[in-house]
Amino acid sequence: MRVLLIGSGGREHALAVGLAADPSVDFLAAAPGNPGIAQLAELHPVTATDPAAVAALAVELAADLVVVGPEAPLVAGVADAVRAKGIACFGPSAAAAQLEGSKAFAKDVMAAAGVPTARSYACTEADEVARALDELGAPYVVKNDGLAAGKGVVVTDSLEVAVQHAADCGKVVIEEYLSGPEVSLFVVTDGAAAVPLMPAQDFKRLGDGDAGPNTGGMGAYAPLDWAPDDLVPRVLRETVEPTLAEMRDRGTPFAGLLYVGLALTPDGPKVIEFNARFGDPETQVVLALLATPLAGLLQAAATGRLAEHPPLRWHDGAAITVVVASHNYPGTPRTGDVIEGAEVPGVIHAGTARREDGALISAGGRVLSVTALGPDLAGARDAAYALVDGVRLDGAQFRTDIALAAVEGRIKPLEARSRR
Ligand code: AMP
Ligand code: GLY
Repeated sequence: MRVLLIGSGGREHALAVGLAADPSVDFLAAAPGNPGIAQLAELHPVTATDPAAVAALAVELAADLVVVGPEAPLVAGVADAVRAKGIACFGPSAAAAQLEGSKAFAKDVMAAAGVPTARSYACTEADEVARALDELGAPYVVKNDGLAAGKGVVVTDSLEVAVQHAADCGKVVIEEYLSGPEVSLFVVTDGAAAVPLMPAQDFKRLGDGDAGPNTGGMGAYAPLDWAPDDLVPRVLRETVEPTLAEMRDRGTPFAGLLYVGLALTPDGPKVIEFNARFGDPETQVVLALLATPLAGLLQAAATGRLAEHPPLRWHDGAAITVVVASHNYPGTPRTGDVIEGAEVPGVIHAGTARREDGALISAGGRVLSVTALGPDLAGARDAAYALVDGVRLDGAQFRTDIALAAVEGRIKPLEARSRR
């Protein structure tokens, strides 16, 4: 099969590794791609958020399957435009991608479907904001309604900071603070059947010990040996199935990757957010452990035949990824720094570019996602940090504690107060 992958980040490099390894893929292209993806796929320039341009490229390349990585093209309608050309596309329609594109829409769907999530208010006016903050209390959680590339959410004890963020955003969702370890669960779906992947944990804060600002994600690992045994079936039953049914009832079935971001609260798993695409950097670890060929799985979802797909197979052991970010990320990241030691297996490229003289340089906030497998989490951690040691990037920032609490047995779900 001929596959076209849309996007240019670490998630897309990880997807490219998986697609290239699938024996059913005899041609792989990526647009716009990055220097890491260029080792695996033919690159084509494209504006990923231009539905007509992506659809035209898919036709020109005679693609059998288009896989859309990031959210912005999905929200812009890229999957709709590709499907209108009669080409299978892994990724939801623009209408269904509103589950990520609007926090207020997602909350409305969750309320209608009875999905466990934080209590919330959608607000636009200052007096509504003040009332919601007062009612829900600190810590305050204020979310920009629209796409904000991982920078839309403020969690703070300061009323002043919360009010200011709401004013800066215009339309916001203000919600109850959820406590408990966070889990990312990816579900492949054709709108009806749902196939969960292995849960993973992401590290959203910039610094060790969860200090510093929120980021797009600084590292991830799987599996989660500490998670309750019934986590995946419970989330499928309480969250995924009702959400997919609600989207079908609205006439906008969600087909693609439903990313369920959860907090494992004392009252059970509650949804923090939905995304309409694979998570970055969780994809780097989840796909490293997936033994089932990736293209066949995504094609089954894209063509409505997921119910016929055989059960997934997984590699033994554990995977971890450590994000290497540029100087000043997540503020205004410095770019153009030379990177050395990054052209080795396991070093996934995110924000990298090729300079005219051929040197590899940084081109974004999250530059690399250094990924390793091991017989267990401790072994995977040692292998990943050994790879990080081999990377040279001036001003590099990375966490040294990815998966450390899990390795040391310090992470536990909060005690259950009630069970359904
Ligand atoms: P989101 O973009 O919605 O995933 O939010 C980014 C991060 O903010 C999450 O990964 C959480 O760490 C935190 N967060 C978001 N919503 C809540 C909430 N209701 N309670 C506690 N933390 C939250
Ligand atoms: N790692 C979080 C996200 O992809 O949204």
